[in-house]
Amino acid sequence: DTGLPLDMIIFGGMGDLAMRKLLPALYMAYLHGNLPAATRIISTGRQDFDRKAYLAHVEEHSRSFIASANFNEKTWDGFLALLEYVRLDVQAAPDFSALARASQPGHQRVFYLSTAPALFTTICDKLAASNLVDANARVVLEKPLGHDLDSAIEINEAVGKHFAESQIYRIDHYLGKETVQNLMVLRFGNSILEPLWRAPNISSVQITVAEEVGVGSRAGFYDGTGAMRDMVQNHLLQLLCIVAMEPPTSLSPDAVRDEKLKVIRSLRRFGLADIARDTVRGQYVHGASANHEVPGYLEEKNVPQDSKTETFVALRAHVDTWRWSKVPFYLRTGKRMARRSSKIVIEFANPPFPLFPDQPGGVANRLVIELQPEEAIKLQLMAKQPGSGMQMQQVALNLDLQSAFQQRRAEAYERLLIDVVRGRLTHFMRRDELEAAWAWADPIIEGWGTLGEKPHPYAAGSWGPAESFALLARDGFAWVE
Ligand code: BG6
Repeated sequence: DTGLPLDMIIFGGMGDLAMRKLLPALYMAYLHGNLPAATRIISTGRQDFDRKAYLAHVEEHSRSFIASANFNEKTWDGFLALLEYVRLDVQAAPDFSALARASQPGHQRVFYLSTAPALFTTICDKLAASNLVDANARVVLEKPLGHDLDSAIEINEAVGKHFAESQIYRIDHYLGKETVQNLMVLRFGNSILEPLWRAPNISSVQITVAEEVGVGSRAGFYDGTGAMRDMVQNHLLQLLCIVAMEPPTSLSPDAVRDEKLKVIRSLRRFGLADIARDTVRGQYVHGASANHEVPGYLEEKNVPQDSKTETFVALRAHVDTWRWSKVPFYLRTGKRMARRSSKIVIEFANPPFPLFPDQPGGVANRLVIELQPEEAIKLQLMAKQPGSGMQMQQVALNLDLQSAFQQRRAEAYERLLIDVVRGRLTHFMRRDELEAAWAWADPIIEGWGTLGEKPHPYAAGSWGPAESFALLARDGFAWVE
């Protein structure tokens, strides 16, 4: 904390993210006394609103995203008092003078860029030209950070012209999730797991981020993006990094990010044959979700009839290091899947000798780390069924984190915004990390184009296309639901 008054300046202040996530997160931070006493939230947008109209918009579109248990009329009024609105067209230099008048020199300025990434360059150039970028300023870059490696480099160059790397906070909100941060503690705050955490003790790793929702009203963005860019290149790779990284020497931002970078750089590159064999794209078709009939992706609003955009990806990745030699990492994500469920499954090698005649097939020991919707950690072990024989059965040791901790669990955006205000970079992506992630993802996306394959259809409300099951079955594994 710099102790300075804080000006949180949101570009895209009328947008969906601001309404659904950023303002509710700031409200929660305010409610819990985690914002500096002199804080102002300056939202910018192109709409010709005055402050009153903006507050009315926030009432209507943001307030409902605060859980009722946390809502308090008096706190809400106090929070609204922090809000200001500056009408600003990012292409119009004079509009930045209005912003400069609204934000006093000497304040700690945080610029939150929650606009299309194509606008980041012009925003940063104009902020600098209006003398808004000083040594205390910080900039938060919302994903998608580019569309491919070239556009990511372009954005990084443009932002880097005006901000030092230590002033740049590239958000991946998965890194703000309590459960994801807990994964670091599980791995490095305990000593019993680390000796086992490698090949050949671990036979495979599964990372699933399944969503129940469909594309909703975001087709305009999503159809040009797809699940690989929207989820795999960032969220799933970040989870993979935390599972696969070597212990960092400290929790300093660079110590942690150096180790994550090494993992991304060790990911085996996909050639065309690997893409054809080890990746599965899917697109949902009409089906049922939560007992309701739902349309297929091609029937969603603003989706072109002939769209080949994937709403599902499964793939087999390899981290080419001594620790992970020959261990497959199966990644899977999709929209309109059977239910919302994010989990990491670590499968351990089976006992080398089948001592028990009735030993069931399959994997004996698994560590299942459930991230969403509920946090849970389960260790699956074999146990003897009571009785005269030696029948075995899988049982789970459940670590009940919900009852172990009574404390409130903050949402990812709340935690990350507080990190920005306090200048803590550990849970944000460094430039080289982001670029390495694109360098891995780009050839896969390009390869899909070259191969000209259409995504495999899967019914909304299912666990994805059959090909995704075949991907694991081939190696003798199965997705753990
Ligand atoms: C976002 C993606 O980054 O993450 C969305 O753009 C996706 O498409 C969302 O729905 C998922 O986040 P969470 O926190 O709900 O798992």
